[in-house]
Amino acid sequence: MADLHIEIHGLTFQNPVLVASGTFGYGLEVSEAYPVETLGGICTKGLTLQPRLGNPPPRLKETPCGLLNSIGLENIGWDAFEKQKLPLLRELNGPRIVVNLNGETEKEYLELAEKAEAADGVDILEINVSCPNVKKGGMEFGRDLRALEKLVQKIRKRTSKPLWIKLTPNFVDIVEEAKAAEQGGADAVSLINTLLGTSIDLRSQTYVPGFGHGGLSGPAIYPFALYCVREVARAVSIPVVGIGGIANTHIALQFLMAGASLIQIGTAAMIDPRTPFQIIEGIRQYLDEHGYSSVSEIIGIAHAPDLTPRPTRPD
Ligand SMILES: Cc1cc2nc3c(=O)[nH]c(=O)nc-3n(C[C@H](O)[C@H](O)[C@H](O)COP(=O)(O)O)c2cc1C
Repeated sequence: MADLHIEIHGLTFQNPVLVASGTFGYGLEVSEAYPVETLGGICTKGLTLQPRLGNPPPRLKETPCGLLNSIGLENIGWDAFEKQKLPLLRELNGPRIVVNLNGETEKEYLELAEKAEAADGVDILEINVSCPNVKKGGMEFGRDLRALEKLVQKIRKRTSKPLWIKLTPNFVDIVEEAKAAEQGGADAVSLINTLLGTSIDLRSQTYVPGFGHGGLSGPAIYPFALYCVREVARAVSIPVVGIGGIANTHIALQFLMAGASLIQIGTAAMIDPRTPFQIIEGIRQYLDEHGYSSVSEIIGIAHAPDLTPRPTRPD
């Protein structure tokens, strides 16, 4: 059977399939029903220093082929997470534990990074500079390339653990954003976070979600996310973690072939929590059927598009 292990920045993952932040709770909610210990990794819900209630409802709105959310980083806060959730996550003893960290200010990011550095059981820090539905912080950092590089440099000094930067695709060149993260000392970039979007309820003539806008995720965003992954993977030398609309094995394989070393499953796991586990098996089956001995053999193997000018047709 093909080997699914992936090694990046000195850390081994038992397979390349992780669950994305904010779509799988703290990783423990479904652990009695599903074998979460077989995942490549678990990205926690977005964490902040203090507990947050998030935005007022409605916070979710289904669209024809995607989901708009404006959760606004509802979470129990770092200290409660470390006390109540982290010990249980640690016991899973298989998936890499990725803490998704969010600040309104640079100071908050740095304090969180220090706490995560000191916490037993945290394997990776994923710094979210791309949340589209908070009033302060969030996307502001991802869109200002100089501020981003400075922030990454400062966090880098506070942690020796692997540092991932989660990028926004909204109104910024994501390739330049990835380069700024790399320049600042990131070990990997994860992309994409949700695309800005909104909708209007015709009866009340008000915007939905209630925050006025939200982040679009799910099947609609996969071709754009795949494009971003390809462009970023070509431009930086650190690994890329691919996210966005991955709903089945076919799409998952495309992200790996475009250059993602790991992938994260979000909305698709909210629709059906079996999806990430089916994708792990699906990747293994594809590799076996096509004669690959390891998943690392297919990372980035998609051919570059052939743009040679076609000969003009003789009259
Ligand atoms: C309900 C919901 C909550 C989310 N919360 C977070 C979060 O707290 N931190 C974060 O970095 N991304 C968050 N995201 C973004 C996802 O992690 C992921 O980047 C995005 O949804 C695209 O992947 P998908 O199309 O597979 O869902 C959230 C997405 C959804 C749908």
